[in-house]
Amino acid sequence: MPIVGFFSKNASIELQYEWEKKLQFYDPLISLVPLLSKEAEQAQVALLWNSPLDRLKELQNLKGLISLGQGVDHILKNNSIPMNIPIVRIVDPYMAKSMSHWVVLSVLNFIRDTYGYFEQEKAKLYQPRKELNFLSLKIGIYGVGAIGSVVAKDLHNLGFQVEGWSRTKKEIEGVNCHYGKNCIDELIKNCNIHVCLLPLTSLTKNIFNKQTFAKMKRGSCFINAGRGNQVVENDLIQSCKTGHISSAILDVYRNEPLPKNHKFWEQNNIRIWPHVAAETNPQTAAKQIAYAIKCFEKGEMPPNSIDRNLGY
Ligand code: NDP
Ligand code: OXD
Repeated sequence: MPIVGFFSKNASIELQYEWEKKLQFYDPLISLVPLLSKEAEQAQVALLWNSPLDRLKELQNLKGLISLGQGVDHILKNNSIPMNIPIVRIVDPYMAKSMSHWVVLSVLNFIRDTYGYFEQEKAKLYQPRKELNFLSLKIGIYGVGAIGSVVAKDLHNLGFQVEGWSRTKKEIEGVNCHYGKNCIDELIKNCNIHVCLLPLTSLTKNIFNKQTFAKMKRGSCFINAGRGNQVVENDLIQSCKTGHISSAILDVYRNEPLPKNHKFWEQNNIRIWPHVAAETNPQTAAKQIAYAIKCFEKGEMPPNSIDRNLGY
């Protein structure tokens, strides 16, 4: 019987029951137990989101870890997890589409100046505002993996010019793809809207900083749903203050929840979302998690295992 230690920060016990029910649809023998409970000491698998990682040392039968999201930085931040324990992540087309909706919403809010119209509505002002010509805009997607590739294709299908950036070579129909460290400037210098969908690794930490923002075109829009640690937050604030970055739309932060006294709240061209751009959906993700649990039980490597050396 597969015992799975479950932890999702700030989640209710109902969420654990919901996951158990969804997983049992695929394997009725799966039992989900709270990671911090005595029973979890027998667990072969742990299913985690922002969990206390030291607890894992006490699970002697552990065969593998599963991230309850597409990112794994919340697990890899603890470098004491033995290399022989595989880590699997969710790769769910539902999440990619959900992210795509959020990015499209953010892009359209920027080019149509939605927030300007909201202000006019309050002042009963019936007046057209400046609209950007979408044919002359370029959107850069940093990270065209499981999520970014879907976002890039959807933006292309909406009529935008889209540039993509990844570590290795990619071909995405309708998207001008660049790869490798030296080619990031193709996007930084030439795009008007910058969308970060990168995983957090040692190479992507602080990648958006004073220098990168300065190289962007004046009036650029910066959208981040990757991870907060990819952005030097004070540098973003400075660039937003001068209008060099005319709008930033953020879903992720160095400290989450975003502290009440954070300067982002004061900056009226920074839009704040509470890490909801693409939420994990038990309905659509349960099948692959149940399968990963089965693979761990049989001593096989499940799909979507991450590369520990790359960090994603
Ligand atoms: P993938 O691993 O599928 O894609 C990552 C992409 O980033 C790949 O294209 C990869 O290149 C590229 N990349 C990684 N490192 C580098 C680098 N050093 N230089 C250039 N490109 C690099 O991840 P997903 O698309 O599934 O998810 C991406 C991230 O999105 C997650 O890690 C998470 O942080 C974030 N996320 C945020 C959510 C939210 O609600 N805000 C929800 C879900 C995810 P290559 O293709 O060559 O490997
Ligand atoms: C994820 C996230 O990584 O929600 O899945 O951020």
